[in-house]
Amino acid sequence: MTGDGWLADTRTSYDTVADSYASQVRDTIAGDAYLRGAMALFADLVRAAGDGPVADLGCGPGQATAHLHQLGIDAFGIDLSPAMIDVARRDHPGLRFEVGSMTDLDLGRESVAGLLAWWSLIHVPDQEVPAVLGHFWRVLRPGGPLMLGFHAGDRSRLKTEGYGGHPMNVWVHRRPPERVAGWLRAAGFTIEAQLLFGPDAPTAAIVFARRPDVRPAGSA
Ligand SMILES: C[S@@+](CC[C@H](N)C(=O)[O-])C[C@H]1O[C@@H](n2cnc3c(N)ncnc32)[C@H](O)[C@@H]1O
Repeated sequence: MTGDGWLADTRTSYDTVADSYASQVRDTIAGDAYLRGAMALFADLVRAAGDGPVADLGCGPGQATAHLHQLGIDAFGIDLSPAMIDVARRDHPGLRFEVGSMTDLDLGRESVAGLLAWWSLIHVPDQEVPAVLGHFWRVLRPGGPLMLGFHAGDRSRLKTEGYGGHPMNVWVHRRPPERVAGWLRAAGFTIEAQLLFGPDAPTAAIVFARRPDVRPAGSA
């Protein structure tokens, strides 16, 4: 897994499964009290930080974007896969969705009030994560919250099919929450809370982080 081949493979994989993925995940947030609660908390944090546009990075078919919109948040979605963006626009007309990559985020500096990456950083290889989090920090307003959902664990696997037996060629990286927290701190974020799923070693995690509302001495 070298260079940007993973990006092309991830894009093609999600283009292939876009429709079936959308039908499988449609009700996952609405149907889960913990995920609903996390979304409600994140919406509160965005409002408390002054409200404004919120980017859902790796939005897929837009279920989280739409959920936040229903909570009164000005959410828009960005995804690597053009087919996912087509599905998101079809299923949620009236909301904004654009093709783009979190590795080269085409958003202005400090232009968003909040950031969501909901099971999308799971495809970014370890060596690329610091640069991606650097983009997150750059586009987020000082004081803005970031909510990150991911598979917990310590194993990467190549997923070769999914969502109804469709061919895929995508790496899925499980990470210990403390490793993700370390990356976030190194990128300048503060960690405010973590929700760990499972009775023992966590199988999934949601981290609530924030870009501090202070500027380093000497910065413009
Ligand atoms: C497991 S799906 C999650 C989709 C959505 N967030 C959800 O919860 O249903 C992963 C999504 O991340 C997107 N993705 C992967 N790498 C990306 C990148 N570098 N930039 C933007 N989106 C990316 C994929 O295209 C896919 O739609």
